Amino acid sequence: MTTPAPWRRAVVTGGAGFLGSHLCERLLDAGVEVDCVDNLLSGSMDNIAHLEGRQGFRFSHCDVSSSDRTADELAGPYDLVLHFACPASPADYLRHPLETMDAGSLGTRNALTIAHRDGARFLLASTSEVYGDPLVHPQREDYWGNVNPVGPRSVYDESKRFAEALVTAHAGTKGMNAGIVRIFNTYGPRMRAHDGRAVPTFVCQALAGEPVTVTGDGSQTRSLCYVDDTVDGVLRVAASQAVRPVNIGGGDEATVLDIARRVIALAGSTSPLTFIVRPEDDPERRRPDTTLARELLGWEPRVSWEEGIKRTIAHFSATPGPASPAPRD
Ligand SMILES: NC(=O)c1ccc[n+]([C@@H]2O[C@H](COP(=O)([O-])OP(=O)(O)OC[C@H]3O[C@@H](n4cnc5c(N)ncnc54)[C@H](O)[C@@H]3O)[C@@H](O)[C@H]2O)c1
Repeated sequence: MTTPAPWRRAVVTGGAGFLGSHLCERLLDAGVEVDCVDNLLSGSMDNIAHLEGRQGFRFSHCDVSSSDRTADELAGPYDLVLHFACPASPADYLRHPLETMDAGSLGTRNALTIAHRDGARFLLASTSEVYGDPLVHPQREDYWGNVNPVGPRSVYDESKRFAEALVTAHAGTKGMNAGIVRIFNTYGPRMRAHDGRAVPTFVCQALAGEPVTVTGDGSQTRSLCYVDDTVDGVLRVAASQAVRPVNIGGGDEATVLDIARRVIALAGSTSPLTFIVRPEDDPERRRPDTTLARELLGWEPRVSWEEGIKRTIAHFSATPGPASPAPRD
């Protein structure tokens, strides 16, 4: 993001979540007033407790999928709308399938309406899940994906695909300055120990000395990105005029088994590995092509895997909790 930030006042939906809370913080640090909107479905006030009382920060407990409440709560005017509200971990969206579809459809429409009212830049948090279980590697933005529309993950994948279509239609018919960022697996402090995603699960299990649960034989791959890098990429996409999707994600593709081994080693743990059933439709390979982000925005991940995991281990060491159930991402 350029300094000073090119915005005066922003709204972050899902601002009490993992990514949203980091975005709120980074915007406040750059002198931007921030309205953080969240219904606390999967987020927590703990994530933003340190922001309460900071000048320019306001929290609204509001369901962004409810049009009346959203318009009332978000008086604005804003010059930036970041739509991040949506359950994001498989455990959360499988527990809340209808709310997930509402967040992508009604929630996105309501957030777009606010941005259109104020003539604000709009950015949708989309996901690598729009590529489904990809048949093309690495995944470029012009790949259409391989999604099962009636599988267990479809509530999330199709909700985001619909949201992307909605944003594109608004940009086309209303001339809005609306962009889409496709975020790949991100990890770091403020993830929930129980959210079922691989990194917090492995870290908590390793710290507790419990068996580290790898799904399947662990040969499926993920490309992880540390939260500071993802937030930097998101804000660069926001500050650009890009109206086509932009991938933001890590370049270090690793098997889930390797990720588990690295976490155990960095935690100095003696946890054994254990292998459990792999979830249905779990993607085989995940690797972003980030050429567009590099050429358009000068963005590249900077935090090494080792450094990011060490910071994440330090976070969970300071906020201990019981190990999570098996990872599903
Ligand atoms: N973390 C990742 O690796 C990742 C990857 C791809 C995309 N994303 C996207 O980024 C966004 C944030 O993900 P996250 O990892 O921080 O998840 P998260 O669950 O920590 O955050 C989502 C936040 O949205 C809130 N929310 C959900 N529905 C809402 C609604 N109807 N109204 C208001 N608030 C609502 C939740 O309470 C939570 O605070 C999501 O849109 C997700 O799809 C995240």
